[in-house]
Formats: sequence, structure tokens, C-alpha cells
Amino acid sequence: MALPLEETEPQLRPDAELEQLEIELLLEAVYRRYGFDFREYAQASLKRRLWRRAHAEHVATLSELQARLLHDPQCMERLLLDLSINVTSMFRDPSFYLAFREKIVPMLHTYPFTRIWCAGCSTGEEVYSLAILLEEEELYDRTRIYATDINENVLATARAGIFPLERMQQYTQNYIRGGGKHDFSRYYLSAYDGAQFSRSLVENVVFAQHNLAMDRAFNEFNVILCRNVMIYFDRTLQSRVHELFYESLEQFGMLALGHKESLSFTQYAEKYELLDAAERIYRKIG
Ligand SMILES: C[S@@+](CC[C@H](N)C(=O)[O-])C[C@H]1O[C@@H](n2cnc3c(N)ncnc32)[C@H](O)[C@@H]1O
Repeated sequence: MALPLEETEPQLRPDAELEQLEIELLLEAVYRRYGFDFREYAQASLKRRLWRRAHAEHVATLSELQARLLHDPQCMERLLLDLSINVTSMFRDPSFYLAFREKIVPMLHTYPFTRIWCAGCSTGEEVYSLAILLEEEELYDRTRIYATDINENVLATARAGIFPLERMQQYTQNYIRGGGKHDFSRYYLSAYDGAQFSRSLVENVVFAQHNLAMDRAFNEFNVILCRNVMIYFDRTLQSRVHELFYESLEQFGMLALGHKESLSFTQYAEKYELLDAAERIYRKIG
């Protein structure tokens, strides 16, 4: 007996399924060729960004983009910039910095020396904000900040410490709302259209490339800040990064996440107490 047509002939894949296959192959290719692992990034924004890169490279399909990526490391650099969403600002979410002053600073004063990891620091605005806060709370001299990001380009900007002058008005307001104690302009010099932040703010900062999706723990910390980074990761990857943070935090160390991030769905939820629910500040107790 003849089989009905659809059982004998391979069916054409619906477009969405084909697109999904192309995405998976492209991410696998990027991982195997360059070692950057985006396979567990949240799908919707990943897809948008891949298509944006495809259009910018004037290719019609994601498979063509994959071929370009494999053969052209410069294209990979451009994709890296697209995928590592770098939006940041100084004293971003000022209420977080207030909470840091009120809830984390008193604990830091009980240690002779502290290590802070700022993971996913982007172009460094968060690091300079933290350094200013620690300086004002008389903690900076006994702190080392490890500032890491997957993306070497943003780290170069962070090291230079020059930010657009036009943003200083907004940053001044953020600084004041975040509990700033002085005149914000004391921390930078204006030159042309840039604000060059004081080199003393990065004296105790180590900038280094580190990939949260692949690299291991490299030290033990009293505080880890990882804000607005894991929103781009799927839950499996978020859980793995939480494992890394758990391993990297000393007992009673503190973890600060972004306003839209949480560890409540992970197996580590019970190993932390919530110090500030709104500001997503946790303390390792287990
Ligand atoms: C939106 S920015 C957040 C910057 C800063 N933490 C803040 O809250 O303003 C996210 C940063 O995470 C970095 N990032 C993305 N994936 C990463 C990974 N796998 N490992 C380390 N950093 C990563 C990006 O390069 C980007 O600079």
C-alpha cells in the first residue's frame, strides 16, 4: 500500500524552525572557532542582535552570517560588540548606592582589607562610581576592586576613564541621589567634550577580561556586584553563574544584582539571606 505523500517526502521546515537551526549552528560555530559561548543567552534579544549584524554585513541569512564570522575575525569583533549590550551609567539606580552605603559599608568597615568583584563592568562607569563611594566612606585605601567584562573594547574605555561631558549633569544628579557627599566635579577634569576621571580612583582597580559563561573563579571576595548582566542569560546559564559567585564569595560575603535580576529560582536561594529586597542585595549564609 502506498504511503500518503507527507509520510514519504521530507516536509519543508517552517521558517521559524529553520531560523532556530541556523541560530544554533551559528552559535556553535562561534563557540568552536573563537571560544565565546552565547549558546545559553536569552533567545529573543539574541535573535534581534544577530539579524541586526546580518543586515549591517549585507548578508541575507544567518547561515551567510555564520560563514562570514568563521572567516573574518573582524566580523566576530563587531558581533561581540552587538551581543554584549554595554549600556551603563554612573551611579545607575541611585537608590542602590544609597543601600550600599547603608547596608554594605558598615560590614566592610569590620574587615582590615576587602576584595570586591565588579563582574560585567562594561565601560567602567559602575567601577568609578564604586571607587568614589568607597573613597567617601574611607574604605578605598583598603579595598581592591576586580573589574571584569567579556569584552576587551569596553575594558579599554574603562581603563581610560574618560566619559562624555554631556552626561555629567545626569551623573551629578545620580551621585547626589545616591548619597554623594561632595561636589561631584571634584572627581574629574573637563577636557574638550570629555570628563577625565581622577587616576587615583583606579589605583586599586584591576581591569581584566573574564567570561562569566566559561571562565572559573579566580579569587575570594567580600562583595560581588553583577548588575544588569544576567538579564541576557537564560536560566541554565544564570544558575551556572550563581554557582561561580557562590564559590567566589567568602562566608557572609554580599552579592548585588540588578533590579530585574534574582537568585530566587536557583538552588542557591537558601544559601543567602536577603539584605535589601528592592536593591537585590544578598548575603551568603549557607
Ligand atoms: C548592560 S552592561 C551592565 C554594566 C554595568 N554592570 C551596569 O549595571 O551598568 C552588561 C555588560 O555585561 C557584559 N557581559 C555580557 N556577557 C558577559 C559574559 N559572559 N561575561 C562577562 N561579561 C559579560 C557585557 O559586555 C556588558 O558590558
